[in-house]
Amino acid sequence: SFFAGREGDLRGLKVLVTAAGTREPIDPVRFVGNRSSGKMGYAVAQMAAERGAEVLLISGPSALAVPPNVKAVQVESTNEMLEACLAAYDAVDIVIKAAAVADYRPRDVADQKIKKKTDDALTVVMDKNPDILKTLGAKKTHQVLVGFAAETQNLLANAREKVVKKNLDMIVANDVTAAGAGFNSDTNIVKFLYANGDVCELEQMPKVDVANRILDEALRIRRERA
Ligand code: CTP
Ligand code: CA
Repeated sequence: SFFAGREGDLRGLKVLVTAAGTREPIDPVRFVGNRSSGKMGYAVAQMAAERGAEVLLISGPSALAVPPNVKAVQVESTNEMLEACLAAYDAVDIVIKAAAVADYRPRDVADQKIKKKTDDALTVVMDKNPDILKTLGAKKTHQVLVGFAAETQNLLANAREKVVKKNLDMIVANDVTAAGAGFNSDTNIVKFLYANGDVCELEQMPKVDVANRILDEALRIRRERA
């Protein structure tokens, strides 16, 4: 089963998981979003709780149910997710950052619904959002910090760069365009890249199995550090 050798192994640990996509408002009825379903992050939260961790799930909008014994904080925008993460960060042992975070947000949020005009085009100027994971990496003390990399090309090189730039212990890299992987799939095909340069390629497997493998690695890194 999933739990052979994993029964209660996260007991006493606090795990912060972020999941789903953030949304950036344009006006009261519109937003800029992405295709993240939240499945990967919710699977990590579920498995961490089943293995005995105290789990805080910080999630963008998702159709998924909060797993049993998981404390959930719902957010919308990247800035809201950043604030929620910072508030919890000092107290947690493991951070798994599966959320698909909006990199930009509309500069001006209209307080009334934007009306259609006679021009054929609408220009929305976007400002860069803070990088939540990079912010957490810069403040890292005792935490094991695990990020994700969603790529459509140059998977390993791009993921490697993120490990270094964000001061991660590990990154879970996936090619979101591959069949059997990515946003709405129940399975995933991922590679683990570590701070020391090691790479581990996993087969295609259900997201709950990927979740357990990620938690195994986070626990191993934590134990090796102690
Ligand atoms: N991330 C974040 N804050 C952002 C953007 C990304 O915390 N503003 C996190 C994601 O949750 C993920 C990791 O950083 O764990 C990588 O996200 P990704 O979109 O793959 O990388 P970016 O650094 O945003 O670079 P790019 O989109 O240009 O590939
Ligand atoms: Ca991004």
